[in-house]
Amino acid sequence: MAYRGSRLVFAASVLVAAGSIGANLLAHGNVVPQAVDTSALPDIVGGNDTYVIKNPYRADAKVYAIAQKIGESAYGQNCARCHGLEAISGGIAPDLRYLDKGEDGDEWYIQRYHKGSVRDGKVYMPAMGDVLGQKAGWAIRSWLDTKHEE
Ligand code: HEC
Repeated sequence: MAYRGSRLVFAASVLVAAGSIGANLLAHGNVVPQAVDTSALPDIVGGNDTYVIKNPYRADAKVYAIAQKIGESAYGQNCARCHGLEAISGGIAPDLRYLDKGEDGDEWYIQRYHKGSVRDGKVYMPAMGDVLGQKAGWAIRSWLDTKHEE
């Protein structure tokens, strides 16, 4: 009886350990995207089906300012956990302040945002585009412009 009892205890503690590993994975690995309200921004022709390769919000100062504000909070909720608060990376993921500036860096940026990064079946960065949408992607890019460093 004593033997069976301790086996049960053992099994239960393994379950608890497995549970906390699961919770850790959830906290660090699996990303739960936070919806971004982009209704204040002009729609992009092509919606979420066709991505443009240049930031459509940069040309109009008023729109650009709105985009930066939306992008700041969208970044904080969806990107900061890996890329760092205020876009200053702690080393887990690339430091996005050093992306190429302006249109030169737009295409690379939006491609990563849209599709994420998967190599040899391993997800380095989850795809964000299909969940958050193209408008949120360019809003975040607009805010990142304000953090750019050479
Ligand atoms: C789960 C962690 C994680 C989250 C969340 C995440 N990223 Fe990433 N991101 C990465 C990693 C890791 C890489 C490097 C990928 C590689 O090495 O291929 C990366 C790469 C990038 C790159 C390319 C950077 C470069 O210098 O080449 C961009 C742009 C980018 N991420 C933007 C974003 C944006 C915008 C968000 C939020 C909407 C975001 N990421 C959310 C982990 C993450």
